Amino acid sequence: MSINEGGGARAITRLGVVGCGMMGSGIAEVGARSGLDVVVREPTDELLAAGRSRIQKSLSRAVEKEKLTASELDAAWARLRFATGFDELTDRDLVIEAIVEDPEAKKELFAALDGSCRPETIFASNTSSLPITDMAAATSRADRFVGLHFFNPVPVMKLVEVVRTVATSDETFERAFAFAGALGKVPIAAKDRSGFVVNLLLVPYLLDAVRQLERGAASVRDIDVAMTLGCGHPMGPLTLCDFVGIDTLYRIGEIMYEEYREERYAPPPLLRRLVAMGRFGKKSGLGFYDWRGLEPVPLEP
Ligand code: CAA
Repeated sequence: MSINEGGGARAITRLGVVGCGMMGSGIAEVGARSGLDVVVREPTDELLAAGRSRIQKSLSRAVEKEKLTASELDAAWARLRFATGFDELTDRDLVIEAIVEDPEAKKELFAALDGSCRPETIFASNTSSLPITDMAAATSRADRFVGLHFFNPVPVMKLVEVVRTVATSDETFERAFAFAGALGKVPIAAKDRSGFVVNLLLVPYLLDAVRQLERGAASVRDIDVAMTLGCGHPMGPLTLCDFVGIDTLYRIGEIMYEEYREERYAPPPLLRRLVAMGRFGKKSGLGFYDWRGLEPVPLEP
C-alpha cells in the first residue's frame, strides 16, 4: 500500500496547481518530487515562464544543497507540464489553487474549473485566511472541496493544514489528508475559520512586533535578535514579515480583522505605510530590511 492510500483513501496521482508564484511553485515542485504527474497553470505565457524558472531554480538549489540528486531533478522535471488553459486540468484527481488572496478572483477561478474538470476532481485552496466555504459554494462540488494550506518555503516546511468545511465529505477529507502525508508533510486537521491554526497565532504575533517597533520599544535589529536568541526562533518576527511579504501580511490581517473584529488582527498603520511605499519585503528588495545587498540591512523607521 502506498502512503497515499492511508486509511483506504484512493490515491491522488494526477495533480493540478493553479498559480505558480511562491506557494504554487513550491507545491508543484513537492508534488513532482513525490512522483506525481503535475500540471501547472498560469493564465499567460509570461507568468508561466516566471513560474517555470522559479521551480527550476528551487530544484537546482536542492541539488546544490545535496537534498536531491541530478537524476532525481531530471525525473521531477519530467513529471511537470505547464499550461495556460484549463483543458490540461480536466483529468486531474486534485487541483490546488494558489493565486492571489482575492476572494472574487478565487471564486471566479473555481467556477471556471468547475465547468472544465471532471466531476470527481477534488478542489483545494491554499488560501491562508479566506473562507474555504465561500469558494466551495461557487462550485457544484462543495463535498469535494477542502483547504490545503502549505507553508513557506514549501519544499522545506513540514506542515500542511487540511481544512474541512461543513460540506466536505469524509472521503474527500481523508484523501486530502493522505495526499499531504504522501508529499512527506505532516497534516493537521483545521476548521474553516480565518487563519486556521498557524496564522491564528502567528499573525497577531507578527503584527505585535510591528506595533512594538512603532511604539519605539526597540530597533528592528534588536526585536529580531531578541526573539531569535531569547526564544530560539529560526528568525525574528520582522525578518519573517519580510519573507511572508508586507503586502501579503497586510491583506491577511485585514481579512482576519474582518472575520473576528478583534484588534489583535488589525494591521498597524506602519504596515500600511510600507505597503503604500511599495516596500513589500524581500521580494521587492525593501521591507523592514534592505535585501538588495549580500546581507540584509535593518531599516530603522
Ligand atoms: N519564506 C521563504 N523562504 C524562506 C523562508 C520563508 N519564510 N524562510 C527561509 N527561507 C529560505 C531562505 O531564503 C533560504 O533560501 P536560499 O537557500 O535560496 O538562500 C532557504 O529558505 C534556507 O533558509 P536558511 O538559510 O535559514 O536555512 P535553514 O536550513 O537553516 O532553515 C528554514 C530553513 C527551516 C526554512 C528556516 O529558515 C525557517 O524556519 N524559516 C522560517 C520559516 C517560517 O516561519 N515559515 C512560515 C511562514 S508563514 C507562512 O508561510 C504562512 C502564511 O500563510 C503567512
